[in-house]
Amino acid sequence: MREILLLGDDGHLAAQLGKIDGARFAVRPIATVDEASGVPALIVLAAAGPFSASRSLITALKKRFPAVPLLVIGPCDDADKVKAIGAGAADILRPPVPDTDLRRHVVSLADGIEREHEMDDLIKQKNCLKCPLIRETHGYGRFIGSSPAIKKVFAQIEKVRKSSLNVFIHGESGTGKELVARTLHESSAHRDGPFMAINCGAIPEHLLESELFGYEKGAFTGADRPYNGKIIDADGGTLFLDEVSELPLKLQVKLLRFLEERKVTRLGSSRAQEVDVRLVCATNKDLRAMVRGNLFREDLYYRLVVYTIDLPPLRERREDIPLFFAHFLQEREERHEVHITRIEPEVVELLKNYPWPGNVREIINLVDHVLVSAEEGIVTVDALPPYVREPHGTPAERTEAGAPAPWRPRTIEELEKEAIIATLRHFNGNMAETARALGIGRATLYRKMASYHID
Ligand SMILES: Nc1ncnc2c1ncn2[C@@H]1O[C@H](COP(=O)(O)OP(=O)(O)OP(=O)(O)O)[C@@H](O)[C@H]1O
Ligand SMILES: [Mg+2]
Repeated sequence: MREILLLGDDGHLAAQLGKIDGARFAVRPIATVDEASGVPALIVLAAAGPFSASRSLITALKKRFPAVPLLVIGPCDDADKVKAIGAGAADILRPPVPDTDLRRHVVSLADGIEREHEMDDLIKQKNCLKCPLIRETHGYGRFIGSSPAIKKVFAQIEKVRKSSLNVFIHGESGTGKELVARTLHESSAHRDGPFMAINCGAIPEHLLESELFGYEKGAFTGADRPYNGKIIDADGGTLFLDEVSELPLKLQVKLLRFLEERKVTRLGSSRAQEVDVRLVCATNKDLRAMVRGNLFREDLYYRLVVYTIDLPPLRERREDIPLFFAHFLQEREERHEVHITRIEPEVVELLKNYPWPGNVREIINLVDHVLVSAEEGIVTVDALPPYVREPHGTPAERTEAGAPAPWRPRTIEELEKEAIIATLRHFNGNMAETARALGIGRATLYRKMASYHID
C-alpha cells in the first residue's frame, strides 16, 4: 500500500482522495510538516488563502522530501503556478478540482517515479543504437539531441511536463515545435487524454471560430448537427494551437475568456461547459513584436507565455547535425531498402557548414535524397545535393570566387525579393516550404511574388 500524505486539509480533500483506488493508496492527513514520516508516494498540500502564504510550506516539504512529487491545491493564478513549480511543486490546481481530474493527477504523479524509470530505459535503448554517432545521444522519447541548447529544452520539458501550466513554444520552421508539443503531452498528467492540434494559420477566420469553440445544431446555415469543437474535444488532454500568431483578434478575445473561465459556450448555445485542458501554443513569429504592433493582444500574450520553450535553429546547435543525420539515416534506411555502412568524414563537415534554413525537417528531406543517391551503402560527397556541396550564403554575400562582395546599400524591397528568390530556389519552387521558411503565409508569398514579378 502506498501512502498519500495530505497536509492542511479540512476533511474535504481527504474524502475526495479516499475515492481514488483504495487498494493501492492510503491517505494520511497530517496537520504540520513535523508529523510526516516514512516516504510517501505523493504529498498533497491543501493551501487555503493566497499562494504567498503556502510558498514556505512548499519549500519545507521539498526540503524534507526532495524526491516525492508534491501536488498543491489552492487558489492561484498563472504567475503563482510558475512560482509554485519553481519552488518544487509538481503542479498546482485551483479548487474545486473535479474527482476525475484529481484522480488523473494523483495517479500520474504517484506513478511518476516508475514512469521515469521507463523513460530511462527508452534513453538507454537509444544510446545503444548500432550507429556509433548516436551512442552519445540523450533523448526524450522521439525527441533527440546532444547539444547544450537541446539539453536545456529536455530539462525544460522535464520541468513542466507534469504541470497544467500553459506552455509556449517558439522556434523557426522545422525546429521541432510540434514534436515538443506532442512530447509534452505524452509525458504529462494528461497523457491518457486526447491531443488536439489546430493550425490557426491554415483555417479561415469564420471556420476557425467554430472549429475551436464548436456550435449547436442550427447555430448558422449549414449547422445541421451539433459540433463539439477542438477545445471541448481536448477535454482531459492537450490542446495544441499551432501558429497561434495567426489567431484573429476576435478569437484572441474568446480564447482569453476561455483561459480565464476555463469554460466554453458553443455557438448558438446558452450553456457554458467546463473544460480541463493543458494549452500548448507555438509560433515562428516574434509575438512580442506583434503585441507592439497591436496585432496581438497583450493580455492574451502574457497568459500564453507563462512558460516559454525556445527551440534554437539548427545552425545555432551544429553539434546536433551529425547526430540527426545519422539518426534519420538509420530510421529511414528500411523504407528505401538500403543499408548504409559508411559515411565519409567530408560529408559530415559539409553538413555542419550548411546553414539549414529548413532546420530538422530539411535534414530529413536531405536524408531521403542521400539514401536514394548513395552507392554501395557508402555516403560520399557525391550523394549530397549540389546546394550542400557549394559554399553557402546568399548570392549577394558572395561573389563567383566565394569572397564576400563589397557592401552596398539596398532597399528592404530588394532584400525581400532576393530572399524570396533564394528560398524558392532552395526548395525547388515548393511554395508551401518556401512560405514556411520565410515565415509568411502562402497567400502573402503569392502576392509578393506577383508584385516583384517572380514566376
Ligand atoms: N529534436 C528532434 N528529434 C527528432 N526529430 C525531430 C527533432 N526536431 C524536429 N524533429 C523532426 O523534424 C520534423 C519537423 O519538426 P516539427 O514538425 O515538430 O517542426 P515545427 O517547428 O512544428 O515546424 P513548422 O513551424 O514548420 O510547423 C518532424 O518530422 C520532427 O519529428
Ligand atoms: Mg509545426
